[in-house]
Parts: sequence; structure tokens; C-alpha cells
Amino acid sequence: MHAPNDTDPGGIALALITSRFSVSPKRLTTPGPSVIQMQALIEAAGCAPDHELLRPWRLIHVEPAQREALGQVFVESLLERLPSAPMSAQTQAREKAFRAPELLLAVARLEPTHPDVSAPERYVALGAALMNLLLAAHGLGFGAMLSSGHALRTGCFARAFGLSPGELALCFVSIGTPTEVRRRHRPSARELFTTWEPSA
Ligand SMILES: Cc1cc2nc3c(=O)[nH]c(=O)nc-3n(C[C@H](O)[C@H](O)[C@H](O)COP(=O)(O)O)c2cc1C
Repeated sequence: MHAPNDTDPGGIALALITSRFSVSPKRLTTPGPSVIQMQALIEAAGCAPDHELLRPWRLIHVEPAQREALGQVFVESLLERLPSAPMSAQTQAREKAFRAPELLLAVARLEPTHPDVSAPERYVALGAALMNLLLAAHGLGFGAMLSSGHALRTGCFARAFGLSPGELALCFVSIGTPTEVRRRHRPSARELFTTWEPSA
């Protein structure tokens, strides 16, 4: 195998992957992806590995006009967890709904069950789909980030998004134009793997 460079397809893929970084929703502004670009991002997610082709996930688009309603869901989720949450915390929860021009909710589908595809495999499939989406967004010049939070695990949130008992809201995907870039240190290969040492 030859060493990758940034003009062959392998090198381009590595350059894309190793240059990607998350951009906090607070630092994402307009323009967001166009409708056609959003379709391309979602179709990139659909290229991820999928055992038995169960598509054990779905993405729910939160339209810009629905941010007010999402803010209300965040407040109600906060009050479900902490009924005496002060007004300042409620305002902060509501404001989170207005960040980033494009917002998707990533939902894992754990049912109907399949004898060959465990729940962890389904989460991996969703993770792979989200990684494709993040990389595709980065390739198009957008910033993006996955974010979760306590709200996603409340009953009120599940009801608001019409989730069925076999579904789990995993995280939001925020996409937009970065106002500021903060890159994280990346670990070296040496830090990421060990050689198998069979036990006696
Ligand atoms: C499913 C999932 C949920 C996440 N939720 C949050 C979150 O709520 N808040 C946060 O600061 N980072 C969260 N992260 C981490 C960021 O998305 C991001 O990966 C991290 O800040 C590292 O940045 P990097 O992608 O540039 O390495 C989450 C990551 C995953 C995979």
C-alpha cells in the first residue's frame, strides 16, 4: 500500500476526517445548508453500515419556525426533572432551542428486535450514520456538532417528538456556519490501540 497524499481518494478521505472538528451550536450561524445540501447530508448518513438493513435510526428535522415550540419543550423537560427550577434556568433552557440554523434530532430505533442485531449494534449504526453526516457537513464547509442533555431523556420530550416505546432520542445534530473554530488535540495511533496478548 502506498502512503496516502491529499490528491488521491484515500488521501482526500483522510484529510477530511483528520481536519474535522465540532463547532458548538453557540458558534453556528447562518447560512446553514440549503435544502439540497441537507438532503445530501442525510443521504450521506444513509450510506453508513447497517446490519440486516434494519435502518435502526431516524432523523427528525426541527424547522426554523418550530424553534419556539422546541424551547417550550426544553422548559417543560426541565420542569419535569426539577419542578422548582428558577426562571433563569428556564430562560437558559428555552434559549438553547434557537441555536444553529439547522437542527436534527437523532433517534435510535431499538424495536422491533432482531435475533442477529443487538441494541449496541443499533447504536453503533446510528453513530456511524452521524459520523457520515458530520464529515459530509465538514466537507461542504459547514460546522456541526452532536449534543445531548437531560431534556432528551424526559417523558415530556419523548411525547413531544412522538417517540414510540422502542425509540430513544440520542442527540441533536446542529449545523451551520462557524463563527469561531476551536480544534481539539487528536490522539496518536499509539494511544489508540494495543496488540492482542492472548491470555494463557
Ligand atoms: C452522542 C453524543 C452526544 C454528545 N453530547 C454532547 C453535549 O451535550 N455537550 C457537549 O459539550 N458535547 C457533547 N458531545 C461531544 C461533542 O459532540 C464533540 O464530539 C466533542 O466536543 C469533541 O469535539 P470534536 O468532535 O471536535 O473532537 C456529544 C458527543 C456524542 C457522540
